[in-house]
Formats: sequence, structure tokens, C-alpha cells
Amino acid sequence: MRTEDEAVEYIAALTQMYREQGRYLERIYKWAKRVGLDEIRTQIMNDADKRTAYYARFVESQKYAQVDPWSERVSGKDKHEFKPMAVLGQPQAAEQGGTHAQDFVAIGHIDDQCPHKGGPLSDGIVHGNAVTCPLHNWVFSLESGKAQGADEGTVRTYPLRNIDGSLFIALSSLNAAAE
Ligand code: FES
Repeated sequence: MRTEDEAVEYIAALTQMYREQGRYLERIYKWAKRVGLDEIRTQIMNDADKRTAYYARFVESQKYAQVDPWSERVSGKDKHEFKPMAVLGQPQAAEQGGTHAQDFVAIGHIDDQCPHKGGPLSDGIVHGNAVTCPLHNWVFSLESGKAQGADEGTVRTYPLRNIDGSLFIALSSLNAAAE
């Protein structure tokens, strides 16, 4: 690729190919794995006609709806859910938390593996103080790790502490998880 316009065309064409072929709730990397990089390369990199057609359909689609699903929330609705996270500091500082213990943050850190059938909770949707597993929609509290509603199971949690704007995970909880 030599120009920015060319790069935009390839990217938009790839996006359109995914939009047309992806299954409901299928992430782009999972779609790429299913379809195969060779097929994507064939259609986007090697077939100029196909690429141009994908690009044209992408541009056409943007004439009718170009809604950024996040902008409404970032600019007001549910704004409180989008606070910047601080960079983790030195772990030893967590041990000094006694004097700043009042600020446990509203979010928690939990293991990635869903206790139901091993779904990747990091791919789940976070809402309020809970996360929904992407495989079968079980909901887990980010504070207690317990499955909500009628479902049963618990995922390991790691308490986070906010000390002067930096987030810390207690070493003891990491050590316990490693045992
Ligand atoms: S694997 Fe998470 S709900 Fe089934």
C-alpha cells in the first residue's frame, strides 16, 4: 500500500467483508479464524474487483446510518461507568493501604475462566458491578464473583484498592491464586 486512501479502502473492504459474513455476536478475530486468513487475503488483497465492491458497499451503508454506539454513553448516559483507570503502581504500595483503606473501587478484578463451561469472561460485557459471560450469558458479580440469579458458581476475585488514584491488587490474593 502506498497511500492513505489505499489503506482506507483495504480496511473498509475488510470491515465490510466481516459485516456481511460475521455471525451474530461473532467477534472479528473469531470470524477471521473461521473464514481463514488465506480467504481474506484472496478477497481483499488479491482481488481488486472484490475489494472495490466491498468498499463501495461499505461507503453506501455509511450514508444511511453511522451511529457510534459509545458516544451517547461517553457524553452523558451512563457516564459514571467510564472512569479512566489509573496505571498500576508498585505492588508494595498495596501494603501501605491501611491509611487509605476507604477507597475500594466499584470494579473488581476476576479470573478469566467462567466456572460454567470455561467461557472467556474477558470477552464478556461489563454492566454495573457485574459481567455477563459471552457463551451462555451467566452473570457474575465483580465484587463477590458469585453467579447471579438462578445460576450457581463462583469465579475467583481479586480485590482492588484505589490509593490516591492508582489501582493495586494485594499480593496475597495473587499468591493465593497461584497455589
Ligand atoms: S461458559 Fe460461561 S455461561 Fe456458560
